[in-house]
Amino acid sequence: MTFGFETLAIHAGQEPEPRTGAVVPPIYQTSTYAQDAVGAPRLGYEYSRTQNPTRDALQECLAALEGGRMGLTFASGLAAEDALLRTVCRPGDHVVIPDDAYGGTFRLFAKVAQRWGLDWTAAKISDVDAVRAVVRPGQTKIIWVETPTNPLLGIADLAALATLAHEHDAFLAVDNTFASPYLQQPLVHGADVAIHSTTKYIGGHSDVVGGALVAADEGLGQELAFHQNAMGAVNGPFDAWLTLRGVKTLGVRMDRHCDNAERIVEFLSAHRRVAQVLYPGLPEHPGHETAVKQMRRFGGMISFRATGGEAHAIEICNKAELFVLGESLGGVESLIEHPCRMTHASAAGSPLEVPADLGRLSVGIETVDDLITDLDHALA
Ligand SMILES: Cc1ncc(COP(=O)(O)O)c(C=O)c1O
Repeated sequence: MTFGFETLAIHAGQEPEPRTGAVVPPIYQTSTYAQDAVGAPRLGYEYSRTQNPTRDALQECLAALEGGRMGLTFASGLAAEDALLRTVCRPGDHVVIPDDAYGGTFRLFAKVAQRWGLDWTAAKISDVDAVRAVVRPGQTKIIWVETPTNPLLGIADLAALATLAHEHDAFLAVDNTFASPYLQQPLVHGADVAIHSTTKYIGGHSDVVGGALVAADEGLGQELAFHQNAMGAVNGPFDAWLTLRGVKTLGVRMDRHCDNAERIVEFLSAHRRVAQVLYPGLPEHPGHETAVKQMRRFGGMISFRATGGEAHAIEICNKAELFVLGESLGGVESLIEHPCRMTHASAAGSPLEVPADLGRLSVGIETVDDLITDLDHALA
């Protein structure tokens, strides 16, 4: 029997607990497990870095939601990214990264992995030929994309990039944080691994930091599981439980994020103090057709360029009240930020530097008219 997305979000990996029938998976707040005899751990549980039932439930649920074979969860999105890099790459390898990506992801490549001998090239991932031009046959191990990208909301054609990666025996790794598995399932389009900052839409309530990898095949999944244990950046049981509690409502939350974002895009597009609205749902967005092919809807993230340059973008961020000025995204509450000085400050002076007149909104699920009133005031 195959189940729909919302059914999987509520039930996958979350059968009632066998001893008491507890409907919600318990928080197994334990570091270790009593073994029945030397060499006979009960149900295979030895030590909580290696396995924990609460984490197992989350991992199974995320694998089901992404349509993958194995899910692995971590202490943060960056810990998940690091585990993927160190599982797949060796010194001397090369990775293609987006020329628009989360600043922390760029920092991981440019300031950490590069020191260990991993070379990288930034490419415009919305242009398959531009990516093809920088692939180094025999040396490129991963084509790494975000779609939509953070913060410019660029769109990558997942099926075309999967074909390109596989022609070169490379992996296509897709950071699916902005879309969430409800709006887009990269593995269905040929990607090898989906990456998440579960801190964002999956957790959904701005109360827990975490990350996840979902592998399309068992072989890569097992290698990732080995590294998850060997490197040790796992999420704790309470964090796994909070994330699992959040994911149950992912579908309904995403629909409301999208409804609200569509109304706000309409409002901003008509505003005389907004020079440009970046949103893949707009027909004039260069990635719109590709987004229609691979996304259910277009998400809750919107970026805009202010008519008055950097000072104006900062003024809007400072004046907003209901939109909380803060980093992160994907929670039920709306956030506003200035990427150039906040989330993407680490990309200054690099090919990933973002425009200074840019503001980014993470549209929450509040009453949309209140959100529009707040933006109207901030823009006035
Ligand atoms: C698209 C994207 N990927 C990865 C990350 C990193 O995740 P974390 O902050 O959970 O380490 C972020 C964080 O903002 C992000 O926006």
